[in-house]
Amino acid sequence: MADSPLAVTDDGAIRTLTVNRPDKLNALDRATLEALYSAFSAAETDPAVRVVVLTGAGPKAFVAGADIAEMNGLSAVQGRDFSALGQKLMRCIERMPKPVIARINGFALGGGLELAMACHLRIAAETAKVGQPEINLGLIPGFGGTQRLLRLCGRAATLELCLLGTPITAARALQFGIVNEVVPADALDARVQTLAQQLAQAAPLALRGILDAVHIGGECALGEGLAYETAQFGLMFATEDMREGTAAFLARRPPVFQNR
Ligand code: COA
Repeated sequence: MADSPLAVTDDGAIRTLTVNRPDKLNALDRATLEALYSAFSAAETDPAVRVVVLTGAGPKAFVAGADIAEMNGLSAVQGRDFSALGQKLMRCIERMPKPVIARINGFALGGGLELAMACHLRIAAETAKVGQPEINLGLIPGFGGTQRLLRLCGRAATLELCLLGTPITAARALQFGIVNEVVPADALDARVQTLAQQLAQAAPLALRGILDAVHIGGECALGEGLAYETAQFGLMFATEDMREGTAAFLARRPPVFQNR
């Protein structure tokens, strides 16, 4: 496992993917991007997995960006392909039919912030720093940063982060709406575990419906999004889990969802 750029562990229905290049602050080279894509594709189709947690190895970094040493030697065509590979991974994560939590344990810079933004929930340690510092390398974000940051927190914050390239604190990222929660570093594991457990026990088909509807709504006009929501809502009435959830409420007992 020491040589693998990605560690995969399971705890019940919770799969944790840990980018495992701590000596390089978990920078994303092509091999790591490929390993992440394979791991997310496997998690998507594995019925035993209900939630994915994504994090970085070591105390210092979630992911400190795309691998600068690797990028330094790329041609324009290879640079375009590198961006396409990163974007393919981010799209795969964003479109996962199961919730993905980013456990931001340290620096989430450049490709690291882009990776976190592709996840569905972002929980940051208060010691974490996030940013899009590509401008300092004579580059622009290439794994979706200009687009996802814009949609997540608007033009002002996006332009500030991308034009200045200065990393911001987790507290400021919370103000911008880039992360969902900031917790003390020693409380990060417990908080992520609590959220992951909650999601692991939720109705998987309803989680999927929400992820689909929100994703599609972010890319289409309101009327189309509302029509999609109605169709998904109706579909829930064909699930055993909807019968179970409503029956459990009426019987004042906790529901047990079966993914059916
Ligand atoms: N790509 C490749 N290697 C990286 C990297 C990246 N994005 N970020 C860090 N590393 C490597 C460093 O080169 C160093 O390797 P070395 O020990 O072989 O020299 C190691 O990780 C530790 O990083 P270092 O810079 O010594 O740590 P630091 O605590 O002084 O600084 C950062 C931490 C995050 C501020 C700094 O590493 C940094 O600015 N990284 C680049 C961030 C960036 O621009 N990301 C966007 C890339 S598109």
